[in-house]
Amino acid sequence: MYVCLRLGLSIALLLTACGGQRVEPETEAAAAPSAPQRLHVLGAFLEAHWQLPLALQGEPPAGFSELDRSLDPAVCGACHPEQYAAWRTSLHAAAYSPGFSGQLIEGALADPVEVRACQRCHAPLGEQQPYNRLGGPEASFDPALRGQGIVCAACHVRNHRRFGPPRRAALPALLEPPPHGGFEPRGEFQESRFCAPCHQFFDDPGINGKPLENTFVEWQRSPQAAAGRQCQDCHMPDRSHRWRGIHDPEWVRRAIDVDLIPTDLSGRRLEAALVLRNRDVGHAFPTYVTPRVQLVVYQVGAAGKELDATRLEASIGREVDLAAQVEIFDTRVLPGESVKLDYSLARAPGATALLARVSVDPDFHYRAVFDLLLESLEDASARAQIEEARRRISDSTYILAEIRLPLSD
Ligand code: HEC
Ligand code: HEC
Ligand code: HEC
Ligand code: HEC
Ligand code: HEC
Repeated sequence: MYVCLRLGLSIALLLTACGGQRVEPETEAAAAPSAPQRLHVLGAFLEAHWQLPLALQGEPPAGFSELDRSLDPAVCGACHPEQYAAWRTSLHAAAYSPGFSGQLIEGALADPVEVRACQRCHAPLGEQQPYNRLGGPEASFDPALRGQGIVCAACHVRNHRRFGPPRRAALPALLEPPPHGGFEPRGEFQESRFCAPCHQFFDDPGINGKPLENTFVEWQRSPQAAAGRQCQDCHMPDRSHRWRGIHDPEWVRRAIDVDLIPTDLSGRRLEAALVLRNRDVGHAFPTYVTPRVQLVVYQVGAAGKELDATRLEASIGREVDLAAQVEIFDTRVLPGESVKLDYSLARAPGATALLARVSVDPDFHYRAVFDLLLESLEDASARAQIEEARRRISDSTYILAEIRLPLSD
């Protein structure tokens, strides 16, 4: 997350912000209600499965073909075309982005220990690491694989052995002998805790009791979790590998209701309420500190123009001061809950309608971070990558909903 970066000055804080091994007095961590303990949540299989960054795969088993040995997603895709096509459109495939890699070239994060710490979520395979555990060059490093981010093998392959969800009942019997020696079916692939190692900070008391990544805990407390719905049920419908999230307006619209409810629009004062409801997001909307949602209500004139001094606005998000470790505000909307913006202002001369708009900036914090980086970076390649990252998010803000209530004459 970007938040790691602002603290680039201090390695100790940086590890905290990135969910690294934080050395804390036992009591403090134990007392904080939102500091889930990793082993307790993951269980033995996932605890071993998610040792990040991952160990090298090692020697392939005897009898493995060239295809069976390969860790390249395109090779998996030759036999699993549907998953490959979907994965390529996902942010998991884009996780080794210019905004990410551009930060690992110069400054505190260029240190081998930090490169591994960042890559454990963005490019986690042992074969994707330029440095080994001791900080020396990794002999099995594959730069082309590194650039592909969270590859298939990151979730599915350990010691060349395939792991996946239980097989679909409707499929015909497996070929004998099956490719890549078959696979081990594991129910954990269909549980929320499978996603937690990268989407939840463990053993971290957080700021104001909430770690910067707290998605799993938010989900645990949701009505969706009570009803048994896992991350995969929403983000991988019918096992889809697209993982749509806050960057996809259509998808967010399906889970968020926006309404502009008139109370009194007939008098000198216009009274209405803009209500946003988190109907079906299985965690806070939004879950991270990085996006920002803006609510505005204002009056418009005959030409559709905003009229002066009629605007009321509010923002939804979580703002923290990392250096001081304090939370400035947290207005995110929990599952099943709503926020309301009450509008009550004098009707302006010439007003013909009351307009409400909700816009989403999924990359709010990264804008500031990339700008800040561009002030200090000197390395030409680092600068070029951060400039590219800045360009990519230049128009990512979108309008989630817009409602217009006409006013009578
Ligand atoms: C615990 C897992 C984890 C670690 C470790 C981690 N990130 Fe991330 N990172 C994420 C997740 C999840 C997102 C997407 C959520 C968001 O947008 O905030 C993300 C998003 C980002 C983004 C914005 C999206 C993009 O690709 O441009 C940048 C930049 C980034 N991280 C940089 C870093 C850097 C630099 C480090 C090391 C200091 C790091 N991350 C360490 C999980 C991690
Ligand atoms: C030569 C073709 C081939 C290649 C290459 C291949 N697979 Fe497979 N894979 C199969 C077949 C066939 C099955 C069995 C499907 C079934 O259950 O009928 C399978 C099963 C799987 C399963 C289990 C699916 C389930 O139902 O849980 C996973 C996961 C998997 N492969 C991942 C991978 C990954 C990751 C790669 C690349 C590193 C890969 N495969 C490369 C042919 C291949
Ligand atoms: C971030 C982790 C992750 C990555 C990356 C990933 N998968 Fe999966 N994959 C899963 C999970 C989780 C499931 C089970 C979803 C479910 O059952 O709801 C799954 C299911 C599958 C299945 C079974 C599908 C079915 O319909 O039965 C196959 C095959 C598979 N993945 C192959 C791949 C291939 C090939 C890639 C790369 C192109 C890939 N996966 C990338 C997590 C991942
Ligand atoms: C009931 C459906 C549902 C469940 C369950 C669910 N999500 Fe989401 N998730 C959504 C929707 C809808 C969005 C888009 C709105 C938003 O960003 O909050 C989203 C957004 C996200 C994002 C985008 C980043 C952000 O700041 O919002 C991430 C990452 C994410 N979910 C991960 C997870 C993980 C991990 C789990 C399980 C612990 C999970 N989700 C469970 C529906 C769900
Ligand atoms: C190996 C670490 C890792 C695992 C495991 C993982 N993710 Fe992610 N996920 C990330 C990172 C890193 C990003 C951000 C990539 C970027 O933008 O640079 C991300 C992005 C996402 C997004 C897109 C968020 C957005 O901004 O729209 C969703 C949704 C998501 N993950 C859901 C899941 C779910 C569901 C699972 C479990 C099946 C899962 N992830 C497992 C690391 C991981």
